[in-house]
Amino acid sequence: MEQRTRTAEDKLRTYNQMHLIERLQRLPEDERYKLAEQVDHIALDQLFKLLEEQKLAEVSAEASIKPIAYESWEKFEKQEQQAFTDRGWELLRRGGVGAIVVAGGNGSRLGYDGPKGTLDIGLPSGKSLFQLQAERLLHLSRDAGKIIPWYVMTSEDNHEATTAFLQASDYFGYPAEDCFIFQQNSMPAVGHDGQLLLSMDGGIKLAPSGHGDCFASLKRTGALGDMKRRGLDWLFYCNVDNALVKMADPAFIGVAAYYNRDIAAKVVEKTDGQEKIGIMCERNGRPAVLEYNEIPDEISNARSKEGHLLYHLGHISILLFKLDFIDKHADADIPYHMASKKMDHLDAKDQLIEPDKPNAYKLERFIFDFFPFTELITVLKVERHEEFAPVKNKAGVDSPGSARRLVLSLHRKWLIEAGVPPEKLKGRDIELSPLQSYGGEDLSSEGWESGMNR
Ligand code: UD1
Repeated sequence: MEQRTRTAEDKLRTYNQMHLIERLQRLPEDERYKLAEQVDHIALDQLFKLLEEQKLAEVSAEASIKPIAYESWEKFEKQEQQAFTDRGWELLRRGGVGAIVVAGGNGSRLGYDGPKGTLDIGLPSGKSLFQLQAERLLHLSRDAGKIIPWYVMTSEDNHEATTAFLQASDYFGYPAEDCFIFQQNSMPAVGHDGQLLLSMDGGIKLAPSGHGDCFASLKRTGALGDMKRRGLDWLFYCNVDNALVKMADPAFIGVAAYYNRDIAAKVVEKTDGQEKIGIMCERNGRPAVLEYNEIPDEISNARSKEGHLLYHLGHISILLFKLDFIDKHADADIPYHMASKKMDHLDAKDQLIEPDKPNAYKLERFIFDFFPFTELITVLKVERHEEFAPVKNKAGVDSPGSARRLVLSLHRKWLIEAGVPPEKLKGRDIELSPLQSYGGEDLSSEGWESGMNR
C-alpha cells in the first residue's frame, strides 16, 4: 500500500503534478489506494511525451494535398448497380459482414444528457437513433437468413446507460448474443497549464480517447476475437448520429468487395466549402481525411479553373474495413488530435470548477488516421439526401429537427415513387418502419398505410 503510494508520488513528481501528490497525502487510506492505482495504470510518460513533442496530427504546411479518385453510385449502369448489390447480398447470406457503431462520444454540442444513440429525434414513432440502426440491420439479417452481428462501442461516460437502455429495449429484437456492447479506451484530460484535472469523484479526469482507438478496444475486449470466430470478412462502421445511415448497405458491400481494397468509404457532395464535415482527399500520395476544424481555409475553399469546389467530397464516417486490416493494425500507434474544450473539474480544495471558456485539452485518435496504412481505398459517392442526416447540434443545421425532416422527406419520396398520389400525403408526416422497407423497396400504392407511423 505505502509502496504503491510512493511509486505514484514519484511518477507524479516526474511530471510536476504536485496538486495530485498533495491530494494523495491527505486522502483516507482506501481513497488514496484508489487514486494511486489509477496513477499506476495511466501511461503518463506517453501522455506528456505527446504534449511535449506536439507530435499531434495536424495538416502541416509541407503536406501535399490532392483530390482523391472516386466512384459515383449514380454513374454506374443499372446492370452494374444490380451486380454490386447481388454481390453484397451474397456476402450477407454467407454471414461475412458485421456492423459496428461508434457511440462513445459525449455529444456535448447537442446538449443532451443521455447517450446520443438513445435520442428520439421526434419521428412519429418516437424511435431512437439506436432503434433505427438496429431495425435496418434486422431487416437485412432477416432477408439474408443470417444475422449481422452488431457491435456497439461505448465509453466510460456512457457505458452503463447505453447497456441499460439496450437491455431494457430488448435490443429492439436483436438476439442478445449477437449484440456485443464494449467499452472503448480513455485518456486523461490535461489543463492548459499542464496539470491533470480531477473528476467529480476525486480521481483523475478521463475522457474517451476517440473512435480511432476502436480497433485497439475491439481487440482488448474480445470483440475482435468474436468477429474472427464468426468468420467475418468485412466490418461495416458508422457514427451513432446519422438518422439515415444505410446500415451494412448491400450495394456498398458489393462495391467494396469488387474493388477488394482494405477500406471503402462513402462520401457525399459537400454543401459548401465551410460545411462542418471532414474532406476525403489524398495527402502525400495516401488516402486521408482532413477534419473540418483542422483544414486551412485555402484548402476548404479551393476551386478548380471551372469554379467547382476542389475538395468537394465530404467524409460521412460510413466505412467498410476488411477484418484482416483491423487485425493487422489494431495496435498501430496512430497520432492523437488535440482539442481545447471546456471541462468541469474539482480544484485542489474539492470545489467544483465550471469554466466558461476552454480550459483543457482532450486527446483523441481518429479512425481515418488508419487510411494512410493502405495505398488505395474505395471511395463511393452517394446521394446525401438518401444517406446523411447528422444530429450534432441542439437546433438549426444538423440537429434532431433537420434530421427528422430529412427522414420524413425521403420516406415521402419513396411512397411517391411507389405510386402513392402526392395529394394523399399532403400535410402528413409519414414515417416508414425500417422493418418494412430498408431503402424504399417493397412499397406499393395499396396497403402502404399499414406499416407506417404518422
Ligand atoms: C465526424 C467526423 C467528420 C465527419 C462527420 C460526419 C471525426 C473526427 N469527424 O465529425 O469527418 O464529416 O462525423 O457526421 O470523426 N465517438 C466515439 N468515441 C470517442 C469520440 C467519438 O465513439 O471517443 C463517436 C461519436 O459517438 C460519434 C462519432 O464517433 O458517433 C463521431 O463523433 P465526433 O468525434 O464528435 O465527430 P464529428 O464532429 O461528429
